[in-house]
Parts: sequence; C-alpha cells; structure tokens
Amino acid sequence: MAGACRIAAETLKLVCDMARPGIKTLNLNRAAEAYIIEKGAKPAFKGYRGYPATLCVSVNEGVIHGIPNSRALKDGDVLSVDVGVLIDGFYGDSARTVIIGEGTAETIRLVEVTHAALHAGLGQAVAGNRLSDISSAIQQVVESNGFSVVRDFVGHGIGRRLHEDPQIPNYGKPGKGPLLKAGMTFAIEPMVNTGSADVRILPDRWTAVTVDGKPSAHFEHTVAVTENSPNILTKL
Ligand code: MF3
Ligand code: CO
Repeated sequence: MAGACRIAAETLKLVCDMARPGIKTLNLNRAAEAYIIEKGAKPAFKGYRGYPATLCVSVNEGVIHGIPNSRALKDGDVLSVDVGVLIDGFYGDSARTVIIGEGTAETIRLVEVTHAALHAGLGQAVAGNRLSDISSAIQQVVESNGFSVVRDFVGHGIGRRLHEDPQIPNYGKPGKGPLLKAGMTFAIEPMVNTGSADVRILPDRWTAVTVDGKPSAHFEHTVAVTENSPNILTKL
C-alpha cells in the first residue's frame, strides 16, 4: 500500500502546485492522470461505479465528488482535490483543500480546522483504541471551532479494495466500534462545512454541494495502525 499511497501523495502535490487563477480543473485532471500512468499505476476513481475522471475536484460549495470541467479557477476559490491510486493490487486514497490566490479569514480558518480535524482523527488510529475514537476526535475539533461535520459521507477501510469495511463517520461518541489492531489500514476523510452540515447531489449524480451554498473543505489520508504512532502512508 505504501507504493500506491506515495503516488497518490505525489499526484496531489503536483496538482495543488499547478492550481492557480485561470487554470481549468480539467487540466489538473489531465496532469494527474498522466503522472499516475507514467508511474505504472492506475487512477482508482476512473470507472469506479461509472465515475468519469481521475480526480474529484470540488470548488467552494462543492463538498466532494466534483467532476473536473472547463471552468477556470479564480482568486479566492476553495479547491478540494481527491485522488485514488491502484498499483500492484493495492489502493491509496488522499485529499487536500487549497485556496486559490487569496482566501478570506473564514475560508483560511475552514481549511486549517479541517486539516487539524484530520490529524486529530489520525492521532487516534493506534492499537488498543476503538474505531469511534477517531470519529469523536474529528467532531470535537470541527464543532469546537464553530463549523459542521458532513454526515452523509464517511471514511473507510482500504487495502485490496478502494472501499472496505468499516465505515468511519466523522462524528460520534468515543469508545465504540471495533478494537483497532496493528496492520489495519483506513482512509480517514473529514468533510467540513462553514454553514449547515446538509448537502445535496447535483443532477450530474456525483457532485455533492452544501445546501446553503457556503464553502466546504475536505482532507484525507490513508493510514496504517501500528502499536505506536500512526503510519500516515499518503504523507510525502
Ligand atoms: N475519497 C473518496 C471516497 O473514498 C473519493 C471516491 S471518488 C469515486 O469516496 F469516484 F471513486 F467514487
Ligand atoms: Co476515500
């Protein structure tokens, strides 16, 4: 899995470094796909349940699963990029949110809090904890900062398949669910809204957007549970 995760992390870096006002998300998608294929890997999302692209690119009120298109990014956009990679039979999955050009005080805080929430969750991915310790840690960071946790989508187990059990909600009471053991691998992925937690799906049947049109952010890492500190496989 380390191999798949490294390529996913490198692809995210490539794409986020390219993202600036004027660039189209389709161009980001093309660069990501070329990079993954050059590494001898496969884009994991393309063709998954009919998803048409290598990247998910979700802009502003976009929460997740946005399909790349020919609209140009502009100053202040909140861009969430998600990528999955398959190589040698194993998957890696990672996402990051960046602000194009200059953000507002609120969008900057949204991105910081969502990133902090992911890392709070990752910090609980240690042997001996319960699964919902991850969920609870994420919810605590998000809500104590006045933002809301999206409940319609969850993190997941990952390995020989992109989505494996268990589902990992980004909210819940601690101390519940399966006991974590060394060697378990998870994709932990908080989606955080500045306004209401509610989302709806656009007529393209993929793009999830906030119902109130306010901005949303998404960070994801694939992590391996160990006896000690979590091994974040999609960290460069
Ligand atoms: N990281 C997201 C997930 O695990 C992205 C999946 S996109 C899809 O659900 F196209 F593969 F569905
Ligand atoms: Co995922």
